[in-house]
Amino acid sequence: MSQIDLEPVKGTRDFYPDDMRFRTWLFGHMRDIARSMGYEEYDACVLEHADLYIRKAGDEITRQLYDFTDKGDRHLSLRPELTPSLARMVMAKGAALALPVRWFAIPQCFRYEETQRGRKREHFQWNMDAVGIASVAAEAELMSAQAELCRRVGLKLDGEQSEVVWRVSNRQVLGHFLAGMGIDGELFAAVCVLIDKRGKISDAELSIELGKIGVDEAKAARILALLDVRGLDQLATQVPTDNPGLVALRELMDFAASLGIDHLIRIDLSVIRGLSYYTGTVWEVFASAGTFRRAIAGGGRYDRLCEQLGGTAIPMVGFGFGDIPIAEVLTELGRMPKLGRGFDDVVYPMGAKQFTVANRIARHLRAQGRSVTVDYSLRRFKHVVQRAEDDGAARLFILGGDEVAKGVCKVRLLGAERVENEVQLAELGA
Ligand code: HAM
Repeated sequence: MSQIDLEPVKGTRDFYPDDMRFRTWLFGHMRDIARSMGYEEYDACVLEHADLYIRKAGDEITRQLYDFTDKGDRHLSLRPELTPSLARMVMAKGAALALPVRWFAIPQCFRYEETQRGRKREHFQWNMDAVGIASVAAEAELMSAQAELCRRVGLKLDGEQSEVVWRVSNRQVLGHFLAGMGIDGELFAAVCVLIDKRGKISDAELSIELGKIGVDEAKAARILALLDVRGLDQLATQVPTDNPGLVALRELMDFAASLGIDHLIRIDLSVIRGLSYYTGTVWEVFASAGTFRRAIAGGGRYDRLCEQLGGTAIPMVGFGFGDIPIAEVLTELGRMPKLGRGFDDVVYPMGAKQFTVANRIARHLRAQGRSVTVDYSLRRFKHVVQRAEDDGAARLFILGGDEVAKGVCKVRLLGAERVENEVQLAELGA
């Protein structure tokens, strides 16, 4: 038989223990932060009904599905994101769910897209979502959680020197502007999906695409001009003071100030996001240090997703924060954490006859909460010491035939100290 392919499926990753340590460390911070803010963990199955992701507005995600028909003729898909599953779960509970709820998850997601820097076909995504909160106070809270993660993983967020910025807009700014031109509902969602492509395609191409869905050249030009607006002051000169998007952005800045994150926010009308379900605030997090120019996280308000899925509208807002882009940024800035293997002690029986005593010592130490391996290799002493040191262990318990006969064990402190002393086996539970 020819050898199997040793590479993981294109665009997916294997997690060797070295990789897994980073993942566990990162997820640990995500869980800690979410819990500290009263968010409860949930999950759904990675397999979902494909219908959940099939949207008329032309979302790219619909074309990126890992979908198939199962043996029962169901059209299923690996989840490309968790938000529609959350909406489904909230709808399934109906009135039994006492709102508001704050939930978080760290789902693995699959998208059939071109692999490139920071982008793969499989990724994990920290999600925090608030369900049943209409105020943009929820947005500010969620952004502060993202900021806390950035801080904890070692990025600087102070003053002008911040290495991360939040580019924030509100679809209602554009929504209201376009409603005045007769563009609303599904057409508005489709316009959003198209203008999210700005930068990837030229403005001229964008105008042609907008023309195809019925937005004429003059309207397209006005849309593109609005997308160039930066900052609340400039925005206030472009739309009426009662534009609900402008009002919401002003409010959001006040809430952000109360959470100490207003200095991180840049109002930027070019942020639209590629998912058609967003209805209000939309934001993306970017690293300003280094050369990684894609969003490291993104979020938004989607108050009508449940309605679009056949239920009643519920205010919902949340974000997704991937594990791949942040690792990319930390690697480039030389901030990847140095994570030890977490081994405390190695017990070294020098012959097979000492295995049982070694096991008893290991049990005793583990009961004290230590992480202990027994080195059954029967290799020469210097190899065992070397391996234990490489593994980051603090102590080596040496059990030769002579020691066991005397009822003792040699305990060597590893690393720089290398001090050795004898301990009675009885004290080690053996
Ligand atoms: P999204 O912008 O599609 O939003 O993804 C959120 C984040 O997931 C991205 O900023 C990035 O960190 C990561 N991500 C997405 N696709 C990939 C990929 N192919 N490779 C690596 N990382 C990726 C959503 O998915 C929304 N459902 C987020 C959300 C939650 N909105 C409200 N609640």
